[in-house]
Amino acid sequence: MPETGVPARTVIAVDGPAGSGKSTLAKQLSEHFGLLYVDTGAMYRALTWAAEKNNIDFEDGELLAELLANSDLTLDSGSKSTVVKWNSKDISSEIRNSAIENHVSSVASHGSVRKEMVNLQRSISRSTGVVMEGRDIGSVVFPLADVKIYLDASVETRAIRRHKQISKRGAESNLDEVKEDIIRRDKLDTERKESPLTISPDAQIIDNSNMTHAEQLAKSAEIALFVIERSLPKLPEKHLPIASHPLKYKMVVTGMNTLLRFVGAKTFGRENLVRPEGFIIAPNHISLWDPPLIGGTFHGLGAICAVAKEELFKPWPMNHLYAFVNTIPIKRAAYDPSAFDRAAEALEEGKCIKFYPEGMRRPLGEPGPVRGGLAILIQRSGAPTVPIFVRGTTEPQPGGSLRSPLEVRIERPVFMDALPHLEATLDRRAINKRISSLFDSIYREMQDRTFSETPLTNWEKEQTSWQRIYAAKKEKLTFRKRK
Ligand code: DC
Repeated sequence: MPETGVPARTVIAVDGPAGSGKSTLAKQLSEHFGLLYVDTGAMYRALTWAAEKNNIDFEDGELLAELLANSDLTLDSGSKSTVVKWNSKDISSEIRNSAIENHVSSVASHGSVRKEMVNLQRSISRSTGVVMEGRDIGSVVFPLADVKIYLDASVETRAIRRHKQISKRGAESNLDEVKEDIIRRDKLDTERKESPLTISPDAQIIDNSNMTHAEQLAKSAEIALFVIERSLPKLPEKHLPIASHPLKYKMVVTGMNTLLRFVGAKTFGRENLVRPEGFIIAPNHISLWDPPLIGGTFHGLGAICAVAKEELFKPWPMNHLYAFVNTIPIKRAAYDPSAFDRAAEALEEGKCIKFYPEGMRRPLGEPGPVRGGLAILIQRSGAPTVPIFVRGTTEPQPGGSLRSPLEVRIERPVFMDALPHLEATLDRRAINKRISSLFDSIYREMQDRTFSETPLTNWEKEQTSWQRIYAAKKEKLTFRKRK
C-alpha cells in the first residue's frame, strides 16, 4: 500500500445531515484515493421520480420496493457529476427539483424500500472500493466500513449553503424558508423508525462549518489513513502468555485447535486477533460447539479470557476446565457488576475478553438482538471489539461438515472513536442502544455476506426452525426474569 494511498477495496462511508457537504467531500475523497463515488441520496430521489411517473403512492412501501426491484437503476459517477439512469433514461437533473425533494423523505422511510436499496448499494461494492455517501451507510449498509465519517455543520451554515446553491441555479429562494426546510428534513431523517440518521459510535465526526474544501479533504484523508493503518493486522506481534494456568490453558486451546482442524472448519481473518492492546472478541452464538471451535482459533495467541454464564461452572469437570481457560462467571438474570469489573480490569491489563453479545444461543439466520452487556463492557473499558461470525457449528463432523459449511470469520477490530462525543450529548441508555444496534447491523451484514456466497442449505433451514422454538423458550426463562 503506498503511504498516501488506501487498499483498492477500501470502503469509506460518509454520512451526515442535509446540506453538510457530503457530496463534495465524498467526491473529493473518491478522487484522492481512486475509489468509486456513490451518491445514495440520488438513488432514493430516482425511486421518488419513478413513483411519481408511475402514479405510485409515496406511502406504499411494498409497491415502491417492487418498482425498484423490477427496474434498472444505474449511477455513473463521472468526474463532474453523477449520471443517474432509470431504465436507461437519464434523469440526473429531474431528481434535483423541489417536487422530488418534498416526497423523497417519505419514500426513504419504508423498511421494504431500504432493504432493496441496501442490497443494491452493497452489490456495487462487491467488485470495487467505494466512497458512499448517505444517511445509513456506516450504521446499516456497511457497518464494518474501513472508514466512517460523520460530516456535520451548523444549521445556519447549511442553510446558507443550500440558499446559495438554489440561487446559483437561477431559482427563487428565501433563506429563512431554506433553514426551516433543513430543520424539517433533519427531524424526518433522525426520527424515522427505519435506519434513522445517527452518529455511529465508531464514526469520525468532522464539523466543516468553518473549513474550506481543501481543509476538509486534508483532514478527512489524514483521518482515513490513520484509521485504516490502525486496524491493519499487527503481525508478527504476539500477546504475552498471561493465563493463570499457562500450561493447562495451552493444553486446552491446543485441544480445541485440533478439534477445529479435525472437523475441517475454515477460518478467515485470524490475523485480526493479533493486536498490541487488550480487546473484546464478540462472536455470534448458534451452538454449544461455538466455544471450542472459536477457542481453537486462539491457538498460539496467549491467553484469552471468556465471560460465561455461571451455571457452566458448577458441574464437574467443567468447574476445572473453565478455570484453566481463565473464564469469568457472569449471572445472566440480573446485571452483574462484578463480572464487568473483572472483565474491564483484564482488558486494561492488555488481556482479551471473549463475550457473546447475544447472551444466549440464537437460531442461525436470525442473529441478535445484541444485549446491553457488550455496550456496558465497551463503555467501561473503551477497548476495541473484534466481531466473529460462525456458521456450521450445529453439526461439526470429522473432515468437514456434510450438510452445512463450517466457518469462523474474524473481522477487523471496531474502535468506538465517537464515544466521547456521544457521552457529551446522550444519556447512558441511549449510548448502549446505539452500540447494540451497531453490532446488530454488523452481525446481519456478516450473515448476509456469508449467505450470499453460500446460501443456507435445506438442513440449516430445518435446524433454524427448531432452534427458533428453543431460543424463544430460553429467552423467556433467562431474560424475562429481569422485568
Ligand atoms: O442526500 P440527499 O439530499 O440527496 O438525500 C435525499 C433523501 O434521501 C433525504 O431525504 C434522505 C434520504 N436518504 C436516506 O434516507 N438514506 C440514504 N442513504 C441517502 C439518502
